[in-house]
Amino acid sequence: MNILTGIQASGKLHIGNYFGSIKPLLDMQESLKPQDELFAFIASYHSLTTLKNKDELKSNITNIAAAFISFGLDVDRVHFYKQNDVKQCLELYWILQTLTPVGLLQRAHSYKDKVAKNIIANNGLFSYPVLMASDILLYDGEYIPVGKDQIQHIEMARDIAQSFNNTYGNGSDILMLPNAKINENTQTIKGTDGEKMSKSYGNTIDIFASEKTIKKQIMSIKTDSKELGEPKDWQGCNIYDIYALFASDEELSVMQDRYKSAKEGYGHFKLTLLDKILTYFAPHREKFDELTNTKAGMDYLQDMLNEGAKKASQKAEAKMQIVREAVGL
Ligand code: TRP
Repeated sequence: MNILTGIQASGKLHIGNYFGSIKPLLDMQESLKPQDELFAFIASYHSLTTLKNKDELKSNITNIAAAFISFGLDVDRVHFYKQNDVKQCLELYWILQTLTPVGLLQRAHSYKDKVAKNIIANNGLFSYPVLMASDILLYDGEYIPVGKDQIQHIEMARDIAQSFNNTYGNGSDILMLPNAKINENTQTIKGTDGEKMSKSYGNTIDIFASEKTIKKQIMSIKTDSKELGEPKDWQGCNIYDIYALFASDEELSVMQDRYKSAKEGYGHFKLTLLDKILTYFAPHREKFDELTNTKAGMDYLQDMLNEGAKKASQKAEAKMQIVREAVGL
């Protein structure tokens, strides 16, 4: 079975990204069965629908690649590539466009949300789900791990594949119908203000920023206003909840005692959290710096992506030969 997922090339990576998408992917890599193939790509074309800054896009792409390698993505086991390195993706995209009813796209929640927020929709944003369908169908992606917000897009990819098969399949399923798989374990990660951690809310704790920045972010975590000498409630406390993502059960029980003891203030707990996060990510931060700040590191990333592109392109071309034949091109 082919497992496939796209990674948005959004800005600085934060701990919400780590628990929401990086860690689940690496867990999948570890539990991959011999008959399964795992595809993970940087959705660079999709990013263009909203991001119009060349330098930012470039650095986002580099950062995503460096982050995944730093966390232990194994390119011998995972097909890791940049969406725009496989041009067949656009070829299939066009063919699928001609099978996609406009009404279907008009019903997309993500599109409707953006329009509701007064974002002026370009046609790329409108047809975003068709490009996503192409990403998936090009590699016979069957099992698609995504967040809840993407379920509708996977359903659309199914509808589009079905329509292709009905039109050109002559009784056989040329395109495989994908299934969305929601990882039930991925909790929503709280940001520094207690809301869902998100770049757009400005409440993130970044993984690869300077220690100074991370300290500032952690020091800004919202708490109630209990003073040093008062016992504090760890339940529902934002500092404690973020700490719980990293700490062992023993460490958590120590922390609970510290909350109850009335000897310390929130500033102390924040420093413990800072220390925990820096220790937890220390090896990855070091690797990330080495990859992004040295010529050898950047060359490595480039070679790795080139290699991924080569392998993915071969698979994509084999599929496209069948598709072209089926439609009469
Ligand atoms: N739209 C997805 C997101 O925002 C990223 C993505 C692009 C994707 N193409 C995909 C995810 C194909 C799964 C399969 O997260």
